[in-house]
Amino acid sequence: MIAGQLSTDGYVLLPSAIPEPLLLAVQQRAQSLGAEHWRTAGVGRAEQYQVDQQIRSDKIHWINADNDAEAGFLALMDQLRRGINQRLYMGLFDYESHFSIYQQGDFYQKHIDALQGRSNRILSTVLYLNSHWQDSDAGELLLYAEDGEQLLATVAPRYGTLLIFLSEQFPHQVLAANRERYSIAGWFRVNNNRSGVVDPAR
Ligand code: OGA
Ligand code: MN
Repeated sequence: MIAGQLSTDGYVLLPSAIPEPLLLAVQQRAQSLGAEHWRTAGVGRAEQYQVDQQIRSDKIHWINADNDAEAGFLALMDQLRRGINQRLYMGLFDYESHFSIYQQGDFYQKHIDALQGRSNRILSTVLYLNSHWQDSDAGELLLYAEDGEQLLATVAPRYGTLLIFLSEQFPHQVLAANRERYSIAGWFRVNNNRSGVVDPAR
């Protein structure tokens, strides 16, 4: 079903795709990270990396397997990676992801996760970790068609909602929320390996 919808629409919205114990574990992990674990998010990769709080004002924490909850999440996403590869032959090679925290009023302006032809980010995922989210809390993700104008989906950042979309084809933005808002953004990547160097690490 995930693969089917991805191949026809290029995106899929799943209200509850993650097993509850794992979801709870990553939610608790996100909420327990102290200020020293969060850093101001940047835009661009490698030498183009820069912090620009006009574009985004969230803070991030990169996920890795040292923590049990994070490791469980990475294991699940690796299962998803292999499932998608089997069904759609996308040749997805690995997955990178970070927690994001948007404090009240934080936003991320309209952007594309991968610049065409220049990135190895193929498939984006966003998982939301916010219990009891109300419409009045705002903070929706707006997903646009490739032209950047036609609105395809308005996604409330509700606990357990998972959005998956082709990284190059869907501009999207995060509206300011009225309360703290947690998500995990991640990217399945292909390996543009040249002369034995994994292109670029991050
Ligand atoms: C991103 C992103 C969306 C969200 O980090 O690239 O688009 O809702 N995040 O957290
Ligand atoms: Mn994005």
